[in-house]
Amino acid sequence: MKNWVDRNLNHQNKYGYGLFSVILKFNQELIGDCGLEHTKFEEKPCVEIGYDFLSKYWNQGYATEAAKAVKDYAIEKLNIDSKSICSFIRKNNKASQRVSEKIGMQKIKEYKANDIDYYLYAFSKEYFK
Ligand SMILES: CC(C)(COP(=O)(O)OP(=O)(O)OC[C@H]1O[C@@H](n2cnc3c(N)ncnc32)[C@H](O)[C@@H]1OP(=O)(O)O)[C@@H](O)C(=O)NCCC(=O)NCCS
Repeated sequence: MKNWVDRNLNHQNKYGYGLFSVILKFNQELIGDCGLEHTKFEEKPCVEIGYDFLSKYWNQGYATEAAKAVKDYAIEKLNIDSKSICSFIRKNNKASQRVSEKIGMQKIKEYKANDIDYYLYAFSKEYFK
């Protein structure tokens, strides 16, 4: 847990963005995280939108709401080029793929990493072709 928090704090200090905690307004419960991570895809620098929620809160629209807010924040406040924003999603993770689609991303390509099949999702094909 400490390593995970340290990793995120180091990332936040280096790039000026990272993961947000997602807290329900009505009861202050921490239900997940959603945010941005600077990374690379096939040597191209890019910014991944990621999210992870407690299973008892799945399928209530929370990831979509959070990911949309993070996307808007990235583009409007951090001035990150929308073309470089992406998500790496396992082929069998249909819920995550749906969240990506609901915030306007499209499936760009399939690839394999560590023997696991993934889809690259992004807002534009242009940057990743
Ligand atoms: C992926 C995850 C963040 C989605 O969170 P969520 O709050 O349930 O997402 P939302 O409610 O906003 O949207 C989920 C969508 O996926 C759909 N969905 C869920 N399971 C599905 C399945 N097996 N097949 C197809 N669609 C599915 C839902 O119906 C919903 O779409 P809809 O609004 O069109 O009906 C959540 O499942 C999670 O935390 N999973 C574990 C961590 C993870 O996989 N993170 C992403 C790594 S890439």
